[in-house]
Amino acid sequence: MKNKNAFMLATVLLLPATTVFAVPKNDININNEKIVRASFQTDGSVNLPTDFHHWVHVGTFVKESGINIFDNSKIDAPLIGNSYIEPSAYRYFMATGKWADGSQIVKEFTVAENGDNCDKNTHICKTSLGSAIFQEKYTGYGYMVKDQKRFPQFAGNWAFFTTGNIAPPYPKTAKVESVSQCSACHIAHASDQDFVFAAQKIGLDRSSPNNK
Ligand code: HEC
Repeated sequence: MKNKNAFMLATVLLLPATTVFAVPKNDININNEKIVRASFQTDGSVNLPTDFHHWVHVGTFVKESGINIFDNSKIDAPLIGNSYIEPSAYRYFMATGKWADGSQIVKEFTVAENGDNCDKNTHICKTSLGSAIFQEKYTGYGYMVKDQKRFPQFAGNWAFFTTGNIAPPYPKTAKVESVSQCSACHIAHASDQDFVFAAQKIGLDRSSPNNK
């Protein structure tokens, strides 16, 4: 028995230090992670973030037709959406697979070039640089804020805001959008993901070695 214990101790001590002590990058100490929160006006309007291009870009998608969800207008040229996660919320999600209270997410639309040099069906434009679909301009963003104390009434405590379908400079504040305008669709299609389309974003794939 004594010998067996000595053998086990020797085995443990012989393990390379990296095996025993290495901490994968995603195993951050989430208890120390202070989530950076949104700020609000006294009337409940949110102060829209202005620095979200410095957040973590986690995915792009193209909406080719239908309506623009920011103002229900008809889409003429494809909308290219880019999603950004506030970095502390991103780190928390990548470590745990959960959205921390205070998480902030932006999805900004850009509109694709739509001139006479562009094919009306494929939206590919011929230019001296070659043929491609090009982003032409920014056209507003949607903003989700998870806040249990402030929004106990909403699914997942997520409040939805938008600048509307406009070019920058964007407004500084926004009021909470109605459930029918925004969250109803997230409730219908992403209630199994805490109302965020995380599985649809390549940058939020926690199993990808490229996201470590
Ligand atoms: C008809 C359904 C629908 C409506 C209405 C809708 N969304 Fe979304 N929303 C989506 C889908 C689908 C995605 C995922 C797109 C992608 O892959 O990035 C998304 C993504 C988002 C994201 C990025 C985080 C995520 O869940 O992927 C934000 C932020 C967002 N929507 C805000 C809004 C706001 C604000 C409104 C209202 C003005 C709104 N949405 C209305 C379907 C909807």
